[in-house]
Amino acid sequence: MALQIDDLPATIRQAKRELRELLPNYKAVFKDVENAMLAEADRIADLRERGIPIIPEIRFSDIVEERVTAEEIATVKARGACVIRNVFDRSLVEKWDRDIAEYVERNHLDAKLQNRAEDKYFGQLASSKPQIYGVYWSKPQVTARQSAELTQARVFLNRLWKAESEGRVHFDPDHVPVYADRLRRRPPGSESLGLSAHCDGGSVERWIEANFRKVYRHVFSGNWRAYDPFDAAWRTEVEEIASPAVCSMFRTFQGWTALTPQGPGDGTLQLVPIANSMVYILLRALQDDVADDDLCGAMPGRALSIKEQYHAPLFRALSSIPQMQAGDTVFWHSDVIHAVEDAHRGTGYSNVMYIASLPACAKNDAYLKRQLPSFLEGKSPPDFPSDHFEIDFVGRATADDLTPLGRAQMGMTL
Ligand SMILES: [Fe+2]
Repeated sequence: MALQIDDLPATIRQAKRELRELLPNYKAVFKDVENAMLAEADRIADLRERGIPIIPEIRFSDIVEERVTAEEIATVKARGACVIRNVFDRSLVEKWDRDIAEYVERNHLDAKLQNRAEDKYFGQLASSKPQIYGVYWSKPQVTARQSAELTQARVFLNRLWKAESEGRVHFDPDHVPVYADRLRRRPPGSESLGLSAHCDGGSVERWIEANFRKVYRHVFSGNWRAYDPFDAAWRTEVEEIASPAVCSMFRTFQGWTALTPQGPGDGTLQLVPIANSMVYILLRALQDDVADDDLCGAMPGRALSIKEQYHAPLFRALSSIPQMQAGDTVFWHSDVIHAVEDAHRGTGYSNVMYIASLPACAKNDAYLKRQLPSFLEGKSPPDFPSDHFEIDFVGRATADDLTPLGRAQMGMTL
């Protein structure tokens, strides 16, 4: 269900009043959080400066052979992110990249982009959008989503979460519904087309909405060290403000699959690899230097922007992901701060398919039902700007391209 807020300033004032009453020592607790985050951000910055990998890297073959160690898993959970190498063979992905290029070129997508529906979602962020294409149903995207490989990788990721807690089962990690998302195709030499630091999956509602407050119950009670970002309790029941491009599904991890090689300096992804950094963001907004009707600039229906002015310690940890090859994937926890580098100084296209990790739950089943007609008709999915570029695209994936697994993941009855 979507959250409706009529008088936002009044609602924020009321929420802050309630949260401060619940946590009268919000200043002291925040000081403790700030010290811990500063120490962690410094540790990460120090590792980065010494050339030590910060984003954990896992070989896909280790997932298949169940050789991922407890230590590796602990690092993924602390950083809230990982790279999974070699999910697909490089030659297969290079063919996908060529097929996508041909698909968008022969259907004249660039001409259609001139008339695109306005996407306000990222409009408030300091940098503008990267080259994100409203293409959801190319054959390579549909093939990758339903592949056994990416399904196995995402079941592994889903299982990092606590699917059962507080006496309830929140989701089934072993089934991976489709969340059809877009493509990034970024030509070399593009400047100032990155994305400034943000979190997806809710902005002001994290402080306001009742189930979000339960997700963060240990933070708002001051017992913040008990907060587990991987505890799914109430995560599948939160209500977001409806907005184009706010995700209506519950994602365990956001992610993408690299279609081309890309690395630091190529306009690639940056992460704040601290899984519980949301603790800082939540309590920062309650401090006395933030106006009573303000949550550090959070805007309803937009990505939650992270700002130097308020969140400086976290920026120390902002790090580019390592060099990626075609067929590698990167995933980050749905609360993890991320950004896209402004300049692309590399020599080749930097292309990705956004394919997140999701588990089966009632919230996700409900979206599948709304998404399915858009697949069958080639429309933009319900969460996205209603450009519907692909309706008459030649070579679009159809139901005939789905495997039995693909049909199940799309929510079609077998
Ligand atoms: Fe994002």
